[in-house]
Amino acid sequence: MSKKKIVFSGVQPTGNLHLGNYLGALKNFVSLQSKMQCIYCVVDLHAITTFQKPDELKKNVLETVASFLAAGLNPEKSIIFNQSAVPGHAELSWILNCVSRVGWLNRMTQFKDKAGSDKEKASVGLYIYPNLMAADILLYKATHVPVGADQKQHLELSRDIAQKFNNDFNCRDFFPLPEPLIQKNISRVMSLRDGTKKMSKSEESDYSRINLQDSADEIMKKIKKAKSDSEQIPDSLKSLENKPEALNLINIYSEISKVNLEKVLNEMSGKEYSFLKTKLAEILVSEITPIGKEIKKLLQDRSHLEAILKKGKRKASIIAEENLKNIREKVGLI
Ligand code: TYM
Repeated sequence: MSKKKIVFSGVQPTGNLHLGNYLGALKNFVSLQSKMQCIYCVVDLHAITTFQKPDELKKNVLETVASFLAAGLNPEKSIIFNQSAVPGHAELSWILNCVSRVGWLNRMTQFKDKAGSDKEKASVGLYIYPNLMAADILLYKATHVPVGADQKQHLELSRDIAQKFNNDFNCRDFFPLPEPLIQKNISRVMSLRDGTKKMSKSEESDYSRINLQDSADEIMKKIKKAKSDSEQIPDSLKSLENKPEALNLINIYSEISKVNLEKVLNEMSGKEYSFLKTKLAEILVSEITPIGKEIKKLLQDRSHLEAILKKGKRKASIIAEENLKNIREKVGLI
């Protein structure tokens, strides 16, 4: 087995990235790029598992690349490309559709959430989405996958698929079993309106999330309106057990200010949540608004972003083709 460490991760181009994407994934992408070979993919084939307006999809792909760069990804260090530009994703996905089991997919909670109450009407693509995700990772024989906690189950499935392929085709260690890299302190940023739901692009209210392109004014308003608690800030984490909104705000503050939770509680216990909110809004404005401004600036030069994708596609294709040759050989495809 190749001992080389390879990082792969993907982000869907479904519009405006938010604080959850940033803290759960992008920040980790950036810190890994100086340690390992990193491949970061704008997963447009995943996005179309729910209907996307074609013009918006094109725009969102470039916006996602701009967000990668603005967050600190360097195209000289990391391979940045869009999924549909490398046909190997679709080909391997088909092969893995034949390895993965219906029973495994039936357990995927994200499909149940996304398909809603009328599963008969969900696209077949949405159902087999986790197999495409496994293909993304295994096409590059990636060993490490930085993601938020919401992707953990999909990562476990990718490992099961890799293992079954290695067993079925009698090629022990052919695919490495990819390891999820999930942020320890803040693996799931929650909605600002409902602390039991993750912050998400699809939640209706824009007040539920901080978008990377929000203005200082918007960030301040959203934090001010965020649900918290009518009691004062407690001195122990235990007292926050049934207060998910308050815990979420404290978690976000702790992560961005790089002060651990206990210390934040020590400093703030006995104060009103409005005190925390003022500090949180300030620190968010100073960290997020420069990124938003950079995204907007980068979006003014489409050809620069397209050139990055093109170069990334060339580099990704070389690795993908080489691996696919061996995969076809293992499966018996001539
Ligand atoms: P996507 O586009 O929904 O999200 C991109 C990344 O952001 C993380 N994330 C969060 N982290 C913490 N708190 C949140 N509220 C939050 N919301 C989103 C996600 O965990 C993810 O890491 N299926 C994937 C994309 C994908 C992929 C892959 C990832 C396709 N192929 C292969 C890894 C490897 C998705 O829909 O992410």
